[in-house]
Amino acid sequence: MIRKAVIPAAGFGTRFLPFTKAVPKEMIPLVDKPVIQYVIEEAAAAAGITDILIIVSTGKMAIQDHFNPDAGLEARLEANGKSDLLEELRGINKLANLHYVYQKELKGLGDAVLCAKNFVGDEPFAILLGDTVLSSDGKPVISQLLAAHEQTNSSIVALEEVPWEKTSRYGVIDGKSDDETLYKVGAFVEKPAPEEAPSNLVIASRYVFNPEIFDYLAKTPRGKGNEIQLTDAMRLMLEDQAMYGYKFKGKRHDIGNKLDFIKSTIEFALKRPEFRDDVLEYINKISRM
Ligand code: UTP
Repeated sequence: MIRKAVIPAAGFGTRFLPFTKAVPKEMIPLVDKPVIQYVIEEAAAAAGITDILIIVSTGKMAIQDHFNPDAGLEARLEANGKSDLLEELRGINKLANLHYVYQKELKGLGDAVLCAKNFVGDEPFAILLGDTVLSSDGKPVISQLLAAHEQTNSSIVALEEVPWEKTSRYGVIDGKSDDETLYKVGAFVEKPAPEEAPSNLVIASRYVFNPEIFDYLAKTPRGKGNEIQLTDAMRLMLEDQAMYGYKFKGKRHDIGNKLDFIKSTIEFALKRPEFRDDVLEYINKISRM
């Protein structure tokens, strides 16, 4: 049973400047909840996950503040009879045991994951990127991945099918599958041009790794963008171990990307019964302007 999850949330968020100058991109809201709360809810909903490590950096205190109890605020809500809000806030504090570690220098996602080595120890663990919400009508996506890991006992990444013209933005897999859901990975190819891409299946912000990934990360040199890339470590690991990809059922919302954020805000508002009719009416109205 996998007990631990790691959420890298230390990055600069340059794609969302100027907003991310002073506020972590993980605190961008979809309607009224910050992205990272959706991510933690996904992890905490998975059977077995009790402990979550958030990788942070300077300037990310708002994340800790969001999850720490605030006695003064709770007393005020209680005095004002706002019991629904009070319950909701208390629920946030109870999601899981949250831990924090600082990534001292922002040397890339691979380096961020390496900061989790002591926390993880010698057991398999999950990674959920802190700037991406994966919504699903059924089982949470990380639970789908954990089930696939149980089946294969190998490290496994979430896969999303994207339009071919977008392969150059992502890590893509070359893989084989009997059921078009679980793929045995033959190669990881970083940001291939569409005509060179071996598939249009891209690595989609959720992973389950066996602990040996740390050995490969430790020997991964700086790569693209002068950063330590998680994909480079995965490529080294693949030389020695089988790895899989799992085409998850659900939808990805990369909130670090402005257009995705705008679309997702509308989508999440439409899922809320108290906003749905008004938002639809408003979209109709402004689209005729
Ligand atoms: P991104 O490349 O999307 O993050 O990394 P970024 O560097 O913050 O964003 P841009 O491209 O400049 O806008 C994916 C995930 O890895 C984390 C990010 O916080 C994000 O959740 N990350 C990235 C770290 O934790 N540390 C790093 O050094 C880099």
